[in-house]
Amino acid sequence: MAAMKRLAVLGHPVAHSRSPAMQTAALAELGLGEEWSYEAIDVAPDGFERLVRELPGRGFVGANVTVPHKGAALAVADTLTETAREIGAANTLSFEGEEILAGNTDAGGLLAALPVSPAGGTALVLGAGGAARAVVWGLLREGAAVDVWNRTPLRSANLCEELGGRAVEEPDAASYDLIVNSTSAGMHAEDPFEELPLGPADFVPGQVVVDMVYGREPTALLVAAGEAGATTVDGIEVLVRQGALSLRVWTGREAPLAAMRAAARA
Ligand code: ATR
Repeated sequence: MAAMKRLAVLGHPVAHSRSPAMQTAALAELGLGEEWSYEAIDVAPDGFERLVRELPGRGFVGANVTVPHKGAALAVADTLTETAREIGAANTLSFEGEEILAGNTDAGGLLAALPVSPAGGTALVLGAGGAARAVVWGLLREGAAVDVWNRTPLRSANLCEELGGRAVEEPDAASYDLIVNSTSAGMHAEDPFEELPLGPADFVPGQVVVDMVYGREPTALLVAAGEAGATTVDGIEVLVRQGALSLRVWTGREAPLAAMRAAARA
């Protein structure tokens, strides 16, 4: 029997990651469950590089990388995709022998999760952290006009200087075709409308609203957007789509989206 091809998600903490359940379901659905495996590995920042260098020798062929290692993943790689280099973060590693390749499927995942192309439309991105960088990069690349708001305006100004887009401090939320929340506001049950530059009455029909925050319930942001007639996309759909793109990098196979969604939502 051929050696098991191992995959993992590397994070800290990582116990609550939905990627192992989602990717294990995907591998089973593709009939690869006997030859491939996917697990979670918790690794602190000071052990990240050493762990990554050990992985190929332990039978790993690839890994997803999540908070807080997406920058370190870029630094440890021998080869970067153009996307990962421009975004400045990697979420997908592939091992070819001892060589470490780093890519980024976060931007492509966000774009794939959108119900309509953002090309030619206007977008408001909330946040200026690692998640926001991939979103801004992807939307600009697709040809959207992108405004960026962040709680700390210096970070959004710096992000736009580097990637493009326009930093704004008092956006008129109702005027955008697309709004993407890439802050962590709302993650700890705080009221997102207290933290973000918009209120529940600012959503309009026809708008697309994405909340990268996810939990068990729809977020307060998406509930309000849905009630206002906007089309909503939740963080799990974005997670599924980035995972689907990573799975394709490793296996070369089209990902079974329905099985991945069901497992990620279970
Ligand atoms: P990630 O990699 O998930 O993007 P990050 O780099 O730590 O994580 O970025 C977190 C983002 O959420 C930042 O834009 C942060 O705003 P600041 O730059 O002002 O810190 C934003 N954020 C976190 N908590 C927030 C809150 N309660 N209200 C508004 N923005 C918040």
